[in-house]
Amino acid sequence: MPKLLFLFFLFLRPHHAAEDFVRQPARPLVFTPHNRPQSHPQQVHVSLVGDNYMKVSWVTDENGVPSTVEYGKLPGKYDSSATGEHTSYRYFFYTSGKIHHVTIGPLNPATTYYYRCGGSGPEFNFRTPPATYPIEFVLAGDLGQTEWTNTTLEHINARNYDVLLLPGDLSYADTQQPLWDSFGRLVEPYASRRPWMVTQGNHEQEIFPMIYPKGFKAYNSRWPMPYKESGSESNLYYSFDVVGSHIIMLGSYADFDRDSDQYKWLANDLAKINRSRTPWVVVLLHAPWYNSNLAHQGEGESMRVAMEEMLYKSRVDVVFSGHVHAYERFTRVYDNNADPCGPMYITIGDGGNREGLAMLYKEPKPVISLFREASFGHGRLRIMNDTHAHWSWNRNDDSLNVVADGIWLESLRHSCSCAPKMEQKMEHSSGKDEL
Ligand SMILES: *[C@@H]1O[C@H](CO)[C@@H](O)[C@H](O)[C@H]1NC(C)=O
Ligand SMILES: *[C@@H]1O[C@H](CO)[C@@H](O)[C@H](O)[C@H]1NC(C)=O
Ligand SMILES: *[C@@H]1O[C@H](CO)[C@@H](O)[C@H](O)[C@H]1NC(C)=O
Ligand SMILES: [Fe+2]
Repeated sequence: MPKLLFLFFLFLRPHHAAEDFVRQPARPLVFTPHNRPQSHPQQVHVSLVGDNYMKVSWVTDENGVPSTVEYGKLPGKYDSSATGEHTSYRYFFYTSGKIHHVTIGPLNPATTYYYRCGGSGPEFNFRTPPATYPIEFVLAGDLGQTEWTNTTLEHINARNYDVLLLPGDLSYADTQQPLWDSFGRLVEPYASRRPWMVTQGNHEQEIFPMIYPKGFKAYNSRWPMPYKESGSESNLYYSFDVVGSHIIMLGSYADFDRDSDQYKWLANDLAKINRSRTPWVVVLLHAPWYNSNLAHQGEGESMRVAMEEMLYKSRVDVVFSGHVHAYERFTRVYDNNADPCGPMYITIGDGGNREGLAMLYKEPKPVISLFREASFGHGRLRIMNDTHAHWSWNRNDDSLNVVADGIWLESLRHSCSCAPKMEQKMEHSSGKDEL
């Protein structure tokens, strides 16, 4: 967003949200310094890789440190170890540290593991996701690294959860590579303890014509996700399964038209879903397909036109997006209309970055938009069983965590009129009033 427009937004009072709540302006950047020895791990984070495996990623300034993780179920007692790979990258005059990625496992579900990276430095621990319901996902997009980010992360950490899902815009480094390192250090206390599964936003692109035409250099080096494991050829889109849920991470900044690799991969991925094993299908992408905020209007439209029908026919339960720095929840939608067999759409791009909030909305509110508010915060999707899940949005109300929106979802797989088959869509197209 251009700076002037952003300042203009800051000084406007919102006219749509709770009257008793004063909107907070953007807060300053938090630069998180490096205060460990050069050989010690920094920016430690973990992510899921296939069933029962976890990838541990970290950076060292010293090049001689081995890409080895020692781990075990008791603090200080490491009865297993694994060696992985390392990389590094250059971006103009910046050279990254040694970036290590080590996959460890097989691991037991719902178990705390203690681990040490590269043979020295502090011990970390994470807990693996459970093998059975319930499972709780935290959702937060457009994080950045401001004091708001810090508060959002504290709120996320204050209540237990299993996996964090991030629909794009991580560090807001915007080509200033040391800010990627600072972001890694800011999130380490959280991302080293629970798997963080991310997809890309526009701030990850860092494209520079002629020199870095493809972009995503820092993102792909630092945050590799399990794309090969899901048959994808790009770190920009992939999928994974965890306790009854098939999670699809799409790339708003990768080609998505009918001839694209992403389109073909998605069609194939959707066709492979076994709804008995994963009744829930959740999609994340960055630029929202449905959005009644004035910010970023229309930016997700061509992707919606290309891919919405596929998601609809596959009876995707919910689509989360980021990009717009505000919260919005839509009803179940297909092709701009309420449809009981369409996904629920939720914008959760309100993690707390330096650009501040997107305060202005289209008026009147479209009927398919059920709740919208420009505040920072995070969401929680708690999947209780094959049929029921609870969604809540936790507003970052200055420094308090306030549950401001909540709703129960029923999986489409178990809705008798919306079984995930395209033929059934025709038979039941009259069911719109049931919503
Ligand atoms: C960020 O949060 C941590 C952990 O709660 C706290 O110790 C630290 O002081 C915070 N930093 C800033 C700049 O607010
Ligand atoms: C789908 O998953 C169920 C439950 O795990 C299993 O019994 C069934 O064989 C699977 N179907 C296919 C086609 O793999
Ligand atoms: C699923 O969870 C919901 C909400 O907790 C509950 O009402 C329902 O009875 C559960 N269904 C089954 C089959 O356990
Ligand atoms: Fe964005």
